Amino acid sequence: MRSVKRHVAVLALAAATWAMSTSVWGLPSVPSSTFEPAEGCGCHAALYDQWQASMHAKALTDPLYLYKLAEADKATNGALGPFCNGCHGPVAVMAGEVRGTDISKASQQARQGVTCDLCHQVVGTRGKLGNTSIEVQPDGVKRAQLKDAVSPSHATAYSAFHESAEFCGNCHNVDHPVNGMHLEMTYTEWKNGPYAKQGIVCQDCHMTPGPGVTKPNPGKAAAGGPERPHIYTMTFAGGNVGLGDAARAEERLKAAAEVSIEVPEIVQPGAQAVATVTVTNVGAGHYLPTGLTEVRQMWLTVEVVDTAGKTVASTRHDYGTVLKDAKGNHPVELWDAVAIHSDDRIPPKGSSTDTIAFAMPNAAVTVRAALYYRSAPEEMAKKAGVEIPTTEMAKVEKAVYASADEKARAAAPPAPPSGAGAGGLLTWIAAAAVLVGGIVAGFLIARKRA
Ligand code: HEC
Ligand code: HEC
Ligand code: HEC
Ligand code: HEC
Repeated sequence: MRSVKRHVAVLALAAATWAMSTSVWGLPSVPSSTFEPAEGCGCHAALYDQWQASMHAKALTDPLYLYKLAEADKATNGALGPFCNGCHGPVAVMAGEVRGTDISKASQQARQGVTCDLCHQVVGTRGKLGNTSIEVQPDGVKRAQLKDAVSPSHATAYSAFHESAEFCGNCHNVDHPVNGMHLEMTYTEWKNGPYAKQGIVCQDCHMTPGPGVTKPNPGKAAAGGPERPHIYTMTFAGGNVGLGDAARAEERLKAAAEVSIEVPEIVQPGAQAVATVTVTNVGAGHYLPTGLTEVRQMWLTVEVVDTAGKTVASTRHDYGTVLKDAKGNHPVELWDAVAIHSDDRIPPKGSSTDTIAFAMPNAAVTVRAALYYRSAPEEMAKKAGVEIPTTEMAKVEKAVYASADEKARAAAPPAPPSGAGAGGLLTWIAAAAVLVGGIVAGFLIARKRA
């Protein structure tokens, strides 16, 4: 109990330190009018629609976020609110329009979370990457990767920083605000993985229309602008099927992993058989799952079913991270965590293997493996008042036979039906065709005569 109190006291002190700086840890203190509401970006209608469906647009008003924010703020006597809001509502924080969990005073642009005009006034990183380390230059100049952009309504500037993964890493690496332990490490996972070495950045997978690297994506960046060989989309789709862009998230989840089964094709009845199931992270540029992994759920089910549909054996593997506190208790909440107790997620291009053993029955069995994903546990979603669906990411099955005869029997085409079966039907169709043909011919002859 004493250590919990001390923890809260340290958090409160940290919060006070932030409050004394110009704004929340060095972000500029500026009115929200510094940032245009997204509706002002009317010339970029397609980009606006993409962004509006994304979790970036909902980062501050997201019911799951507000639910967790309330828990975090309460558990730490109000110390954590400003920390959380910095990333989920940077405009609200810079403008001082959010207090703890109360966003009722937030202006339209502040409620728009990670909004267009915030990202496009970012110029770099302040200090160590992560924990909202964005450097904002609130001068109204819109920065992006285009070198020749000319706009009738605002100043533009080329920004190489927008093409870098560090742009995203400013917010997609989250450390504990007091003890510094790594809580969310999507950027670092990418940086240490194979995609960084290939020069494939976050933008190549998350700011494109389809899953994977969809380049080139020709189009216009603005109404009245020139046709360009490649433009980025403001989709930022990930795995959030319940609250984000459902179709795009589902597409990405299905492209992220492959499941395969290795098992002998023929096993003597009564003998022990072993199936090896491998899940490979083929599509995600970071661990699978990534981000808020103590909340995200990804699990594999393996089932062995006999010819009567009865389950002979089954197993389940949940992937994720489990956090522990100073006393080693686990799982614990983010704010109580000092270290990771366990982590069995799948690295980019890496695999995870499970085995299942079963006694072979007389005829045949089917081994079925399926991988599922859900952004948040059912109970948490219920408390937050949202519906979070489960997505099937991949599914495979393989048959095992008790003998070569059994396999041949299963492979043989079904016996031809007798009597007026398919053959009979064909005869009828042929007869009907002859009859219709005769009528048409008769009709044509009659017309010619007339
Ligand atoms: C999370 C930050 C972020 C948000 C939010 C965001 N953008 Fe972007 N935008 C970028 C980045 C980064 C690039 C450049 C990508 C690259 O070069 O790799 C970009 C590129 C652009 C471009 C250049 C043309 C193109 O499509 O490639 C335009 C125009 C643009 N964004 C407009 C918008 C508008 C309008 C919105 C809101 C409706 C928006 N952006 C929201 C980060 C953001
Ligand atoms: C100012 C901070 C910030 C920046 C910069 C930022 N993000 Fe995010 N991003 C967030 C937050 C906060 C969320 C979570 C919102 C939520 O789910 O409530 C998020 C969510 C996401 C998601 C998850 C969507 C889903 O369906 O689960 C993806 C993908 C993503 N961001 C990609 C990017 C990429 C790519 C970049 C760089 C071009 C980027 N972000 C830059 C703060 C940021
Ligand atoms: C090779 C393509 C690829 C690259 C590169 C990549 N991602 Fe992803 N990302 C994916 C796929 C596929 C998913 C969906 C599966 C999942 O949730 O992990 C995803 C999911 C996400 C999610 C949602 C996680 C969740 O479960 O809610 C976030 C956030 C994210 N990526 C951010 C980033 C950031 C930030 C970078 C760069 C540092 C990046 N991604 C690089 C392919 C990529
Ligand atoms: C440095 C940036 C940052 C900070 C600070 C931060 N978050 Fe997040 N948060 C993110 C990003 C990025 C994601 C998306 C990651 C993913 O998709 O897995 C996210 C996702 C979430 C989600 C999932 C939302 C959904 O709809 O699935 C919740 C809940 C959440 N954060 C709560 C919090 C709370 C509570 C705090 C404060 C204790 C906090 N966050 C602090 C960046 C941040």
